[in-house]
Amino acid sequence: MIKTQKIKRFFPAINSGRTVSNNAASTQVPIQLLSLLKELVVQYDNVHRGQSVASLSTTEKFEAAYDTIAQFINAPSKRNIILYRNTTEAINSVMYSLMTEFKDGDNVVTTLMEHNSNYVPWYGLCKEILPKFDVNVEYRLARFDKETGELDLAHLKSLVDERTKLICCTGASNFLGTKNPIEKVREIAHSSGYTQPNGEKKSYLLIDGAQTVPNMFIDARKLDIDFLVWSFHKMLAPFGVGALSAREELLERMRPFLYGGDMIAEGKVTPEKVEYNTLPWKFTAGTPNILGTILSAQAIRLLIDFSLNPGQYKYFMTDKKLESSDVEKAMNNIEHHEKILIGEALKILGEIPTIKIYGPQNPENRTSLIAFTCKNKSPFKISEELSELGIESRAGCHCATLAHHYYELDPPASCRLSFYIYNDLKDVRKACLAVKKCV
Ligand code: ALA
Repeated sequence: MIKTQKIKRFFPAINSGRTVSNNAASTQVPIQLLSLLKELVVQYDNVHRGQSVASLSTTEKFEAAYDTIAQFINAPSKRNIILYRNTTEAINSVMYSLMTEFKDGDNVVTTLMEHNSNYVPWYGLCKEILPKFDVNVEYRLARFDKETGELDLAHLKSLVDERTKLICCTGASNFLGTKNPIEKVREIAHSSGYTQPNGEKKSYLLIDGAQTVPNMFIDARKLDIDFLVWSFHKMLAPFGVGALSAREELLERMRPFLYGGDMIAEGKVTPEKVEYNTLPWKFTAGTPNILGTILSAQAIRLLIDFSLNPGQYKYFMTDKKLESSDVEKAMNNIEHHEKILIGEALKILGEIPTIKIYGPQNPENRTSLIAFTCKNKSPFKISEELSELGIESRAGCHCATLAHHYYELDPPASCRLSFYIYNDLKDVRKACLAVKKCV
C-alpha cells in the first residue's frame, strides 16, 4: 500500500485533525503546492501577452504544464490537451464544438449512470438547441444492472446504430463506483458504421474520466478514446482546471468553443476573415487560469512522487519528462491502495443489515467510493450525524440523478464515503464504524 504516514503530514487539512473522506467530490491540496503558489507570484504576469521576463517565464511554465499533462495520459503532445475550468465545461465544449456537425436523424448514446454533466449537455443539445434549427437529434440512455451496478453492454450496443454520432460514457460511476470496460464501449462505438464528416466510419467516444484519471492508469493513446475529460481538483490540485484530451485531427477540424483573444492567429483578424491559432491555443480564448494550470501539472508530478516514493522528489518541480513506466507504476499503486481501502469499507458496511450498498461487491471492479442508503434514516441525516462524529461524507444524488431515480429512491439520494491516497485503513475503519453507530 502507499505509505500514507509519509504523505499525510503534507496536508494542512489532515494535520488539522480532519478525517477527509469526501474525496470523490474534491481532494485536499498539499503544502508543496501552496508554497509553489507563493513562489509563482514573484514572477507573476500574463501568458502570451507580454515581453517582460515575468511574462516569458510564466509563459514557459504554463506551456510546460501542458506537456506534463499530455505525458501523464500518454497523449501524443500538448496539441491534444485543452484546458477548461472543470470536467463539466470540457464536456460542454465538445457539445458546442460538434453542434454544427449533427445531422437530422442522428443520435447520441449515453448511460443512466452518468454524472449530470455527461447527460444534461446532451439533453440540452437534443431538446433545446438543435430543434431551434430544425435538426432533430435523439439522446438514448443505456441501462445498468441494478444488482451488480455493471453497465448493460448488450443494451448499450442495441441503442447504437449507423446514426450514432457519439457515445458518452463515464470511466467510473461517482455513485456506484463501477469501473466501466472502456475498451468494450470503444469497440461498440467503432463498429457503429456512422459516417463522420471526414469520412471516418465510427461513432466518437467521449469518456468522462473524472473518477478514473485521478485513480488509475489511463493511457489515452492505447485506449484510443476520441475525447477524454477530467478535473484536477480531484487529484490534489486546487479548484479551477479541467482537461479535455482529444485526437489532434478532431481538434483541428472542430469549431472553437469560445471565441476571442489568443485563440486567433497573431494578426489574422480582419473585417472579412478571422484565422485561428495553432493547437492547443485555438481553444484557449481569453486569459486562462495560468496559476491553476501550473499547479495542476505540478500536482501530477507530486502525485507520482507520493505514490512511488513519498518524501522523495523525482518529478515535482523538475522539468523531467514523465516516464510512462513511472506513471503506470504510480497509478497502479494508487488503484491498488484504493482497492484495499474500499475492500475494507465493503466488509464493514456490508455487515450492517439495515443498509443497502450500491454498485459492485467486488473491490476489483470499483473505484474508491461507497454509497449506501439506510432503511430507517435519510442519507442527509446520516451525513449530518457523521459530520458530528468528525467524518466527512456527501449526501444527495452526487449529480448522478438519473441513477438515483432508476433505483426509485425517494428522495433521490444516498450517503457516500470516498477515499484517496492519503487515507489509510484506520481512516476507513473510523468512517465505517461511525456509519454503524449512526444507522
Ligand atoms: N462530481 C463530484 C462528486 O461526485 C462533485 O461529488
